[in-house]
Order: sequence, then structure tokens, then C-alpha cells
Amino acid sequence: MRIAVVPGDGIGKEVIPATLPALTLLSDAFGLDLEYDVFGWGADEWIASGVGLPTGAVERLSKDYGCVFLGALGDPRIPDMAHGREILLGLRRELDLYVNHRPIVLSDGVIDLYRENTQGLYVGVGGTVGRAGVVNVAIDECVYTRDTVEKFVRSCLRRLSEKGRRKVTLVHKANAVPNTGGLWVDVFRKELGAFPEMIGSEEYVDSFCYNLVRDPTPYEGVLASNLFGDIISDIGAALMGGLGLAASASICPETGFVLVEPVHGSAPDIAGKGVANPCAAAMSVVLMLDHFGHTEAADMLRACVGEAARSDAATPDLGGRGTTDGLMGTVLALLGRRLSERPRTD
Ligand code: NAD
Ligand code: IPM
Ligand code: MN
Repeated sequence: MRIAVVPGDGIGKEVIPATLPALTLLSDAFGLDLEYDVFGWGADEWIASGVGLPTGAVERLSKDYGCVFLGALGDPRIPDMAHGREILLGLRRELDLYVNHRPIVLSDGVIDLYRENTQGLYVGVGGTVGRAGVVNVAIDECVYTRDTVEKFVRSCLRRLSEKGRRKVTLVHKANAVPNTGGLWVDVFRKELGAFPEMIGSEEYVDSFCYNLVRDPTPYEGVLASNLFGDIISDIGAALMGGLGLAASASICPETGFVLVEPVHGSAPDIAGKGVANPCAAAMSVVLMLDHFGHTEAADMLRACVGEAARSDAATPDLGGRGTTDGLMGTVLALLGRRLSERPRTD
């Protein structure tokens, strides 16, 4: 299995390289045969050559790779994020990675947040009307097709059911945005019929955010449209202890292709200082390993990342004085110890 590694911009260029030795160590120890190539897509290339996602990249990824491991995109020199939309939103859309799993890991359980990842307000339909460089009317259309909402909801319900989760909440705003909101509610109710073991509930997104912050414990599975899911995932990251811990996997259930990435961005405020928390990147590797069924390796890395984050190696965002490399060094040492304690199977 080949992985396309895209460090991207800012702290992406720090946390991704820091994480790769753990991936290699686990691949070797468990015989997973995971190989990777690094691609320099991002702000520098965009500024130098105007190229974001190179021509033919999507075809090459679909043919030769099963996974993208992405850092983050975003650069103060490109304030409208045009390169990021071309690369990141381009990959999500072109590879049809419509299921975005963003687990919210809390001390007493996990909320499986699923975000629709290809449509809604992210379709890029709209425009502006103005004169002399002044925008007077701005339009971004929210577009959902029944086909996409159905396959998204069905896939998420199946995933939740297979994990033994019983409660699922649809987050929407059908009171104020009745067309797309109504479609989501209709599809959710119909698809739930095929999962009699699941208990469904529906919440308006504003009230849901309020309830989530006050008490996240009642939630198990949460389904949200694209923009709502984006916002909820940062709230979820805050509940977890920070953006430095939150990981994400964007999946095409039909092809099995997965793009894993931290939830955080390029963090220009701390980029270049060597103190970015690499846990979100490492937990993205955990999601990748889990996705490909390498459960033992995934569980081991998850445990070591958790232990390292609580150790003296913790980075400033976690209240420590550690560095990116120091934290991943601790993860590697913990992995080495666990691997040496593992009973030999040969
Ligand atoms: P951000 O997530 O980059 O940073 C928000 C805050 O969290 C900052 O204070 C930052 O220092 C902190 N933070 C984030 N990740 C951290 C980590 N690993 N360790 C320690 N602290 C961390 O969000 P932003 O500042 O709004 O965005 C910066 C740029 O990133 C923008 O260009 C934005 O468009 C882009 N962005 C990209 C992605 C992505 O590529 N997936 C996601 C979000 C934002
Ligand atoms: C994320 C990011 C992206 C999104 C941006 C950078 C386009 O915020 O992955 O959470 O909105 O999806
Ligand atoms: Mn986001």
C-alpha cells in the first residue's frame, strides 16, 4: 500500500515529518508494507508556479495510492486560501471522500462525528456582483443532492452500527434553511428505518453546540453537513484539550481511499518554532491504520501518543514545555518498549 504524504504549509511541514518514523517503525514491526512518497504541494509551489493540485494528480493518486497523509494548508501570503481550496477541497471532491470521520475523544468516551465532505456550502457555486472592485452582492450556494446525502447517511449509520454505537444525532438547521435542511431530515428518517437497533435524534445546530459544550456525554454518533461539521469539529477539539489532538479521516466508502489529516490548520502563529503538537498528525496515522484494518498497530500508536501527551514531553498547547520532535521522540521510545514486550509469534 502506497501513501502520498503531503506536508503542506506551516506546521504541516513540522508535524508530518516528525510522525513518519513512527509509521515506518510500525510498518516494519507488523509487516504492514506501508511505503510513502512525499509531495511538495502547497503555498511555495503555488507562489512559484501557480500550481496547486498538479494536472493528473487525482488520477495518479487513485491508480497508485490508497491514502493521502496531509499536514495542513494555509499561508499568510495567500489570504484567500485559493491554493488550499484547490488542493484540499479538490482532493476531497475529486476522490469522492464524502465521509469525514472526526472522532471527539473525551476522557470518558468517544463521540464519532461524521461530516459530509463534498457538498453543501463547499460546492463553489456562487459569485459576486459589484463595481469598481467593491463587492455589493456575494452569493455562496448551499447545494445538496439526495444521492450524496443518502449514501453519506447510510454509510455513517452502517459504521456506527458496526462499532456497536446505538445513539445517533442528526445536526441540521431546517428551521431556518428549509430546503437542504429538510432534505437531510427526510433522508435521515428514512435511512434510520434500516437500522432498528439505532436510536435517532435530531437537533438544531445552534442548540446542539450549546448542549455539546455543556455536557458532551450523551452523544455517541453525530452526523452533520459540511460547514456544520467543520465548526463542530473545532468545538470538539476544544473539548478534547486542543486542536493539537484532533485527527480526521476522509473516506470514499466505494473505493476505500482515505485522506487522513489533523483537524488543525497551518498555525502561522507558531510555525517555524518547533513547538507544534504532533499528536493530531500521529492520531491521523492511527485513523489510517484503523481504516486499513491494522488494529493492533493502531491501538499501540494510540496508546503511546496518549501516554506521551501526558508526559514531560508535552508541548506548550498542552501546558508543557516540550517540542514537536521531543514529543514524537517519546512516542517512538514508548513504541519501541511496547514492541519489545510483545510476545513473539514466529
Ligand atoms: P489553526 O488550526 O491553524 O490554528 C488555530 C490555533 O490553534 C492557533 O493558535 C494555533 O497555534 C493553534 N494550533 C493549531 N494546531 C496546533 C498544534 N498542532 N499544536 C499547537 N497549537 C496548534 O487555524 P487558523 O489559525 O484559523 O488557520 C491558519 C491557516 O490554516 C489558515 O490559512 C486556514 O485557512 C488554514 N487551515 C487549514 C486547515 C487544513 O489544511 N486542513 C484546517 C484549518 C485551517
Ligand atoms: C478543515 C479546514 C478546511 C475546511 C479549510 C481549510 C478549507 O477548516 O479541514 O477543517 O473547512 O474543511
Ligand atoms: Mn476546520
